[in-house]
Amino acid sequence: MPVSSEGSAACVPSLKLGSVSLDNPFIVAPMAGLTDWPYRRLCLENGAGMAVTEMASAVALAHHGRKTLELLYSDPAIEKNLSVQIFGKDPAVMAEAARVAASEAGASIVDLNMACPARKVVRSGHGGALLKDIDHCARIVEAAVKAAGVPVTVKTRSGFNPDDGPIIFQLAKNLENAGAAAITLHPRYVTEAFGGQADWSLITGLAQTVSIPVIGSGDLKTPAEAVAALRSSGASGIMIGRASRGQPWFFRQCLQIMQTGLAQPISQEEKFKTALLHARLMEEQIGPKAAFRLRTVLMWYTRELPGAASLRRAICQEQCVEEQLKLLTAAFENIEVAEFIGQSIEDVWRGELPLP
Ligand SMILES: Cc1cc2nc3c(=O)[nH]c(=O)nc-3n(C[C@H](O)[C@H](O)[C@H](O)COP(=O)(O)O)c2cc1C
Repeated sequence: MPVSSEGSAACVPSLKLGSVSLDNPFIVAPMAGLTDWPYRRLCLENGAGMAVTEMASAVALAHHGRKTLELLYSDPAIEKNLSVQIFGKDPAVMAEAARVAASEAGASIVDLNMACPARKVVRSGHGGALLKDIDHCARIVEAAVKAAGVPVTVKTRSGFNPDDGPIIFQLAKNLENAGAAAITLHPRYVTEAFGGQADWSLITGLAQTVSIPVIGSGDLKTPAEAVAALRSSGASGIMIGRASRGQPWFFRQCLQIMQTGLAQPISQEEKFKTALLHARLMEEQIGPKAAFRLRTVLMWYTRELPGAASLRRAICQEQCVEEQLKLLTAAFENIEVAEFIGQSIEDVWRGELPLP
């Protein structure tokens, strides 16, 4: 395959967020309950320019909550730039939480959540509910910027309610004036949650409205789509959320496409080894409790295997990580056997994968 004239590392732009410079603009989106240290680590080792933590309560962080600080664990040798996302509503509390995130959790960026549509969060006036008062949003940013000592970014949505139309343009100008170093836009309304489609034309419009970097987030399913979005939307950075679940190599493939025009396929062996590593990292971090969360995580890596449904049932019944990993190993070993005898996997597994 000929390498295009753009085929050099130089064609991957860096991304500057205030004083912090990222090697590339492909970022792991914050996902509550998912983007813990093992998840971020795997994505970073596969080339992600940065990863954002799951959202942490500003109130808890302002009180130096031990559990919250544990949730934000990171190894600075691997995570060069840690972006800690916080949610809250009171400017003074958000400011103190931003300071603690930087000084105690090692954040090199503090990201403010003005996006979350979860009912519990919105009802208590946090996350997406903040969009009902854009002056208040600016006051929060101003206070956090003064206290954090590191760049402060904001992740937000088009507006609160589609009936009111997009408020993002006025909001973003206010946030820029208040000192935000970048804005991430997931272009849906808060009341839409994940319904409908992300409206990327708002990201293009926003990039033309403010002079700080705009990061686009929403509905990018493949590395090719992510690269095309970066090239065509005017966004300076791209966040990948759901598509990176069980696919940390997504980021490596984005870089490959930027450099050569082509992403290398992922072997079953790599999928297996990565799933195993993910499991071990989770076990290392949270101990035997990992078995519960692995019910979800292992499904990401195996969802395309024939017989995935019965594998899922079997893994969910196991309380112990070792037993879950035996099932995982057997499932991937069966693929190798199928490849070895030269038959297509589809031929061999028309039915369900027999489980030991
Ligand atoms: C399970 C889950 C949890 C999420 N948690 C957060 C969060 O804590 N903070 C936030 O700003 N966005 C959160 N998001 C939104 C994502 O960061 C992202 O903007 C959204 O999923 C759209 O991108 P995608 O289509 O690439 O997933 C979450 C999304 C999912 C699916």
